[in-house]
Amino acid sequence: MTLRPVAEIASIGTAVPAQVVTNEDLSRTLDTSDAWIVERTGIRERRIARPDESLASLCVTAAHKAMDRAEVGPEELDAIVLATVSPDRRMPGTACDVQALLGANNAAAFDISAACPGFIYGLGIAEGLIAAGTSRTVLVLGGEKLSCITDWQDRSTAVLFGDGAGAAIVRPAKADGRGILSTFLKTDGRLAPLLWIPGGGSLEPMSEKVLHDRSYLMQMKGREVFKAAVLAMAEATDEALRRACVSADQIDLFVPHQANLRIIEATAKHAGIPMDKVMVNLEKYGNTSAASIPIALEQALDEGRIGKGSLLLFVAFGAGFTWGSAVVRW
Ligand code: ACO
Repeated sequence: MTLRPVAEIASIGTAVPAQVVTNEDLSRTLDTSDAWIVERTGIRERRIARPDESLASLCVTAAHKAMDRAEVGPEELDAIVLATVSPDRRMPGTACDVQALLGANNAAAFDISAACPGFIYGLGIAEGLIAAGTSRTVLVLGGEKLSCITDWQDRSTAVLFGDGAGAAIVRPAKADGRGILSTFLKTDGRLAPLLWIPGGGSLEPMSEKVLHDRSYLMQMKGREVFKAAVLAMAEATDEALRRACVSADQIDLFVPHQANLRIIEATAKHAGIPMDKVMVNLEKYGNTSAASIPIALEQALDEGRIGKGSLLLFVAFGAGFTWGSAVVRW
């Protein structure tokens, strides 16, 4: 059976901060080592925003690249969907700043909080807006300034994360079979305490206790998250392929969320996709959460690993727990 996609990704653009923090840099202040981080995660360095680089500024740089490539002007945008867990402020959403900075005067702009699969959730929302006929041109952003919600005194999380942003212009698909063939989104909120920021919200507002506990920063039970991630990534892989009516051996490039090389290898093995068909760049950027898939996708495009008509698989897992996947005919 051949599916007729509703929407296509017309272009991609990304932005990463220039400042590099290596494993050796972290080893100077934390009880860790390059050898431990590389062996357990595959990460060698990450990009960290300067204080004057906002999430909005990273997103605007990424958005301009995607808009230029798709030849889309700001007034053509009907919606801006920004996936992030590290907004510039609690109110209003960072998507509103992006809308103002772009001059996207006709766009509805809003943030979504879906952690690492946020970009895939954004694609699903864009697809829905286009299917409903309420939008023709949607800017989907996955952006994070995780350095501001990372506990730099906690070696079990500080070594994992980085900052960055990715943007996609999503439009109605043409009748050539290219576009988003399937999306799959799932959540299990019962597992939220395994990866969360418990303090500083309206349930436990900022206080001296919250400051002292450092509970306004990310906390994670890494081993439990790892186990859940492997299971969820496998389920998401199977579902995206099933819904797109394709088999794993038809996939030209698997672009997974870049959290941990061992999770990526386990997912590829489950699907039967050889590692030479898997995009991996976490050694350079670490886990950039919602930005991770678009950053990996753009690098794969730059390296010539994706051509017109290539069949791509995106799979991600993160806080919530949330997970999701998509099959895209590029
Ligand atoms: N350096 C040295 N030792 C460390 C470090 C470190 N940076 N971090 C932890 N350790 C120690 C631990 O204290 C522990 O020591 P112990 O045995 O004496 O108690 C030991 O290393 C093993 O710790 P584990 O947590 O069991 O190590 P594991 O092999 O599970 O690797 C890791 C940890 C890398 C965090 C892994 O569990 C992981 O990647 N989990 C998934 C994270 C993830 O994918 N998150 C995705 C969502 S992120 C989002 O949504 C924003």
